Amino acid sequence: QTNIPLQQPLKGKLALVTAGPTVEPIDPVRFISNHSSGKMGIAIADALAAAGATVKLVLGPTRYAPADPSVETIHITTAAEMFNSCIANYPMSDIVVMAAAVADYRPKTVVDKKIKKGNEDMTLELEKTHDILRTLGNNKGQDQLLVGFSLETNNEKEYALKKLKDKNLDLVVLNSLKDEGAGFNHDTNKVTLFDRDGKETALPLKSKQEVAKDIVSAIIELQHENK
Ligand code: CTP
Ligand code: CA
Repeated sequence: QTNIPLQQPLKGKLALVTAGPTVEPIDPVRFISNHSSGKMGIAIADALAAAGATVKLVLGPTRYAPADPSVETIHITTAAEMFNSCIANYPMSDIVVMAAAVADYRPKTVVDKKIKKGNEDMTLELEKTHDILRTLGNNKGQDQLLVGFSLETNNEKEYALKKLKDKNLDLVVLNSLKDEGAGFNHDTNKVTLFDRDGKETALPLKSKQEVAKDIVSAIIELQHENK
């Protein structure tokens, strides 16, 4: 007998998830990136699939991958590639969770040959990337549910609530780097959820898989309200 899940509350729903870092090339040997491992977003993709959703995962460069073989993974490198993939998949998505650590700036020009060392000082000119989540929020349909992350080191609640409002989100997951065992590369995380109705849920430190389940439960609750 096969394992048939008893409950699939998100059956028939399409979910789009982003995870991992983006990598912005400077020249053929150098890049700008960040410490994201992708573990939190990958765990969310798995948890959404376990709840019955059909999941597409837009994943930046990382050695981690979803455990659930039904998750369709789209590998990207840069913020621009992540943007294009998200835009293409957004119209048919019912649930979108943006857990990726997207570069805010990229080198203005990518040099095609290795930059040689020269002066004592050197300046890299950067330009802003598209804010993917903000673009999706501005174009959100009535039945679409949008979840963002807020990665902060200070003024956490204020900044998280600002992102919830400014990016037109239904739920924001505050990830405070102040907390022990939280954030980049850990197998655990400690987050606080803020939803569009003003509900605040502080979760204790737990595995990223358990945090992902709690986030998916919050999504299912908000989905019921939509109806
Ligand atoms: N995000 C995005 N596209 C970007 C930057 C961020 O989609 N170019 C998303 C992230 O995936 C996350 C949310 O926006 O879900 C918040 O990211 P964060 O870096 O915390 O906030 P920013 O809006 O980029 O603001 P700042 O870095 O200045 O705090
Ligand atoms: Ca940012």
